[in-house]
Amino acid sequence: MTASYDFLDTSPVIPVIAIEAIEHAVPLAEALVAGGIVNLEVTLRTQHGLDAIRLINEQVPGANVGVGTVCSAAEFDAAVEAGASFVVSPGQSDELFERALLTDVPFLAGAVTATEVMAAKSRGFNILKFFPAGTSGGAAAIKAFAGPFADIQFVPTGGIKPENAQEYLSLSNVRAVGGSWLTPGDLIKGGRWDEIEAIARQASSLNA
Ligand code: 3PG
Repeated sequence: MTASYDFLDTSPVIPVIAIEAIEHAVPLAEALVAGGIVNLEVTLRTQHGLDAIRLINEQVPGANVGVGTVCSAAEFDAAVEAGASFVVSPGQSDELFERALLTDVPFLAGAVTATEVMAAKSRGFNILKFFPAGTSGGAAAIKAFAGPFADIQFVPTGGIKPENAQEYLSLSNVRAVGGSWLTPGDLIKGGRWDEIEAIARQASSLNA
């Protein structure tokens, strides 16, 4: 496995994006990038996920578009084919680990228990999504993992907001955080891209 995770150092926050209408994909990505947020996790939660990845990849040069909510090897392949440069899963499975090991695409598997961290680590994955962070012990749980798992870093998501993002980012074993707070549905529906850019600018000023 030769995947590089250096992209995680370019922005402290990864927006978790669900595209409800395909025409939102490009202006949303442009607003986030203009605000300094370049790593974009477009989820497969809506039917537009793959098309959105394709369009952003083609039309928003500053964006580093990845895919989220990947639960199978078939989804992994389809997203990479569409142009996803990183892959995020809420959990982990043998088929996902096996697929990721066959590629150079960085893969963030989900883990919130010591057993799950050990399973991922045994497959060679040392940077993990911690989801759902808020209901899985939050920053205190991640901090506790620094003892037994000094070589593991986390990207927590789920329940992270501007008010608590810095608490997570201050931990030595947190590489970045993710969340949907940068992409409120009402702002997207209203085409209020300037306001999304402002949220992104605030998020990009957090310290990882
Ligand atoms: C995810 O998949 O990371 C979460 O759905 C994001 O959680 P949030 O909506 O609480 O930010």
